[in-house]
Amino acid sequence: MIAGDDDRPDMDSRESIDFFVDCFYERVLADEQLSPIFVDVAEVDLAIHLPHIKNYWCKLLLGEKKYQRHTMNIHRKLHGKRALRAEDFQRWLDFFSATADAHFAGKRTERAKQVAKKIAANMEQSLGARSDPLRSE
Ligand code: HEM
Repeated sequence: MIAGDDDRPDMDSRESIDFFVDCFYERVLADEQLSPIFVDVAEVDLAIHLPHIKNYWCKLLLGEKKYQRHTMNIHRKLHGKRALRAEDFQRWLDFFSATADAHFAGKRTERAKQVAKKIAANMEQSLGARSDPLRSE
């Protein structure tokens, strides 16, 4: 891309984060690997879940204080119902970065991708996520 030819905004406001999360979930929920974890295992109510996710990212990226829940415990419980595998984390991250790059660019966008990568790695390690041997070839 030619320098200065990029009119994608940075992910630096509540509006941009709300939009990002909606686009990210559109991809995740259309994916046959990840969608069942949200729909069948956790049975998420999107009207409740999406505002939590939006507040979470507004806390991490903008310093807002609305999100006060324990994300790790929630994933630990989820992992107990249906193991989250290394390839699930990889796919989740791929969608996160692809969605960010499709609509946004800049320092805050790069930071969002880095933060997601770091938390995903910590979460994966702390859950002891393994890859599924049947899928690894
Ligand atoms: C394998 C990757 C992942 C999968 C399949 C996944 C799936 C889910 C599901 C199904 C829920 C809803 C759980 C429930 O309400 O019972 C959830 C909640 C959530 N996830 Fe993930 N997740 C993944 C990774 C991540 C990562 C890496 C982050 C952060 C960077 C994250 C942030 C959140 C947040 C903030 C919530 C909302 C918790 C709340 O209700 O307050 N997730 N996730």
